[in-house]
Amino acid sequence: MTGASSGIGAATVRRFTEAGWHTVAVARREERLTALAAETGAHPIVCDVTDEAQVAAMAREVAETGGASGLVNNAGGALGTDSVEHASNEDWRQMFEVNVIGLRNVTAALLPVLRQAVRGSNTADACASILNLTSTAGLDVYAGGGGYNAAKFAAHAVTGVLRLELAGEPIRVMEVAPGLVHTEEFTLNRLRGDAEAAKRPYADIVPLTAADVAAVMVAAFEQPPHVNQDLIVLRPIAQSSVFHTHRGPLTPRE
Ligand SMILES: NC(=O)c1ccc[n+]([C@@H]2O[C@H](COP(=O)([O-])OP(=O)(O)OC[C@H]3O[C@@H](n4cnc5c(N)ncnc54)[C@H](OP(=O)(O)O)[C@@H]3O)[C@@H](O)[C@H]2O)c1
Repeated sequence: MTGASSGIGAATVRRFTEAGWHTVAVARREERLTALAAETGAHPIVCDVTDEAQVAAMAREVAETGGASGLVNNAGGALGTDSVEHASNEDWRQMFEVNVIGLRNVTAALLPVLRQAVRGSNTADACASILNLTSTAGLDVYAGGGGYNAAKFAAHAVTGVLRLELAGEPIRVMEVAPGLVHTEEFTLNRLRGDAEAAKRPYADIVPLTAADVAAVMVAAFEQPPHVNQDLIVLRPIAQSSVFHTHRGPLTPRE
C-alpha cells in the first residue's frame, strides 16, 4: 500500500488489517508509518515512490519479508488550481512524478514479487491484484484542474495499458476513481496550507470518507480470483459529476 501515512492509504491499511490481510505500509514520513504499524501490525517501509533506488530497496525488503500478492498504488496528490496559462511547471512535474512515474516505478519493481506469490501459492486459481487509485479527475476535466487532470488521466491510461500487457497472466489490474473525499491533507496540500480555503469543497455536503474508499478497495481485492473490477467510480451522493455538487440537505421531490 503506497501513500499509507495519511488519508485514504492509512484508512485502507486499517481496513485490510481488520479483514485479516497482512499489509506493507509505504510512504515517506517515518513517524506516521511507525504509529500506523504499532496500531495495525502493518510492516512499515519508508520510501519515496519517485526515487527508483528507494523503490528497488522497498521491493527487495517486501520480497525478503514474506512477499506480496497485491499492490495498491495510492500515493499521489494535487498541487494548485492554476489555469494552464498561469500554472507552474514545477507543480506539474511534481504531480506527474508522484501520480504517474511513482505508480510505474512501484508497479515495475513489484511485478516479479507478485508473480512469485502466485507461483508459490497452493491454490490452483490463485491470482495477484494491482489496484491503482486514480480519481474522477482522471476521467473528466475541469477548469483549474490542468496538471492534476493530466496526471490522473495518465494514471488511468497506464492502468489500461498494464491490463493489456498482463493479459494471459493471473494478475488482475483494477482502478478505483473517487470523487470528493474529505481527507485531512489532500486539499490542504493542494491549496498550499490555506486551511480556510481547504474547508470550502466540503461545505454543506456529506463527502466520501477515506474509510468509504478503503471499503471499496478491500472489497475489490476480495472478489473471486477470476473477477477483475476494471474501473470503480464512487462519489458522494450529492456530487452527480465533477461539475454538479448539490450543497445543502438532500430531499425527495414532491
Ligand atoms: N481526497 C480526495 O478528494 C481524492 C479524490 C480522488 C483521488 N484521490 C487520490 O487518492 C490518493 C490519496 O489521497 P488522500 O486524499 O488520501 O491524500 P493524502 O492524505 O495527501 O495522501 C497522500 C499520500 O501519498 C503519500 N505520498 C505523496 N508523495 C509521495 C512520494 N513521493 N512517495 C511516497 N508516498 C508519497 C503521502 O505520504 P508521505 O507524505 O508521508 O510520503 C500520503 O500518505 C491520491 O492519489 C489522490 O490523488 C484523492
